[in-house]
Amino acid sequence: MEKTFYVTTPIYYVNDVPHIGHAYTTLACDVIARYKRTRGYQVAFLTGTDEHGQKVETAARAHGETPLELADRVVKRFQALWEKLDISHTDFIRTTQERHKHTVQEQFKAIQAKGDIYLGEYVDWYCTPCETFWTETQLLDGSCPDCGRPTTKLKEASYFFRMSKYQDQLLEHIENNPDFIQPKSRRNEILSFVREGLRDLSISRTSFSWGVPVPGDEKHVMYVWFDALTNYISALGYPEDKDGKYARFWPGMHIIGKDILRFHAVYWPTFLLAAGLPLPTQVYAHGWWTVEGKKMSKSLRNVVEPNMLVDKYGVDAIRYFLMREVPFGLDGDFSHSALVNRINSDLANDLGNLLSRSTAMLSKYFSGKLPQPGPQGESDQVLIRLFADQLTQIDEQMNALAFNKALASIWELISAGNKYIDETEPWSLAKDPAQRERLATVIYNLLEGLRIIALLSAPFMPQTGEKILQLLGCDSNNLSLENLDQWGRLQAGTEIGKAAPLFPRIDIEKS
Ligand code: MSP
Repeated sequence: MEKTFYVTTPIYYVNDVPHIGHAYTTLACDVIARYKRTRGYQVAFLTGTDEHGQKVETAARAHGETPLELADRVVKRFQALWEKLDISHTDFIRTTQERHKHTVQEQFKAIQAKGDIYLGEYVDWYCTPCETFWTETQLLDGSCPDCGRPTTKLKEASYFFRMSKYQDQLLEHIENNPDFIQPKSRRNEILSFVREGLRDLSISRTSFSWGVPVPGDEKHVMYVWFDALTNYISALGYPEDKDGKYARFWPGMHIIGKDILRFHAVYWPTFLLAAGLPLPTQVYAHGWWTVEGKKMSKSLRNVVEPNMLVDKYGVDAIRYFLMREVPFGLDGDFSHSALVNRINSDLANDLGNLLSRSTAMLSKYFSGKLPQPGPQGESDQVLIRLFADQLTQIDEQMNALAFNKALASIWELISAGNKYIDETEPWSLAKDPAQRERLATVIYNLLEGLRIIALLSAPFMPQTGEKILQLLGCDSNNLSLENLDQWGRLQAGTEIGKAAPLFPRIDIEKS
């Protein structure tokens, strides 16, 4: 049977240009998408842009553009960045596309037909920058409890969604499915939020017009989150599902930042429950990056621009650093010194050295032609077993989105390879013609280990993985771990050249 996997990024607001925070969410999704492909899954990987709402309308006005002109301009910046970061998404949705608007309207109609949408009036406090409504009691000194900025009192006709009706069902789902919301601390947060009681949710606006019209009452446009969240199924062609994508891929996994957890773990699941659709398999909220110890903000002029980083350090180094430095789910700090240290120690030193030493010895002792290994001795078996054990462990770590741990496990293999060189001392074996077969075994094992290391690293560092595999004469289009993870697949006789340095060392003083 076909194994399918669906992963999504949040769709990014077009009133901001992409920064390292956006790159982080998308990159995490890319890593898991690529990993699942190596495990034989058919993967749908969705990203896109959130183009409606008051914020976009206001930003466009400030630029003297229409909202769509602004969106058309900014969407290119996101698309170009994803290309530069080697993001392997299979679809890109814009909420201004017809396919999306259609699904949003159908979803609204379905929930309305069920009797879960009614027309009412509300008085509420709205934080425009956060696009969030607060009750009077939630405000802190009259301001938004999240960002501290002033809120506006609003009274208008609005359609409401009976979210309160789904409180018990949602609670039961969260309680019965411990993995539904992760990490655990975030799950607990949502549990207590839901236990406090859900109120009905206002899901339409008449105060601005840049949005999807409410079917049958076009004075109203839909609340931007009702619109935006639906992207996860509109991209699959719901409800008509002409090409069967919805049936194949829904439900999927949402990876998001912690700031938008409530929308994904409360609002979205209740919309789905009302529409009678399955809930996402998982909502995983990662932490936030600060920069050199400070919150990233335009006013501090410390926004880290991913394009610049990639130009300076290379795409794989950035991908590696973001996934290695901070446990996924926790907050982390971005600093140039930490980045340079990682590049120098993990990439240039550990990985770079293993590859250059191994290929240099193959050139020197066997003229670059991979020898047939002899019998594997005890120390070789230890190395081979370590690879097998780590493969199982890495699979668990990847499925738990513990990217930093999975990388640490891969680096244990790299260290084991370097240690194996030090212990077996190929240069001494080379001096003794009687040890020729032993030398062949050692060199073979090093390169075979590198093959598996390249396969395991490829989801994190696609270009590096490909480079190593090509050097080893392997098919770099076949990254499958399903059967290629077994020891002994490299063909004796393969010509393998000396590796050029993968990651040049960076002089911290000059960087
Ligand atoms: N448009 C909404 C999402 C709708 S999804 C149906 C939105 N967009 S956003 O552009 O503001 O943010 C998108 C993602 O970027 C979020 O997951 C957010 O957590 C992430 N980040 C923004 N700044 C960040 C950091 N400084 N650090 C890590 N991630 C951050 O919200």
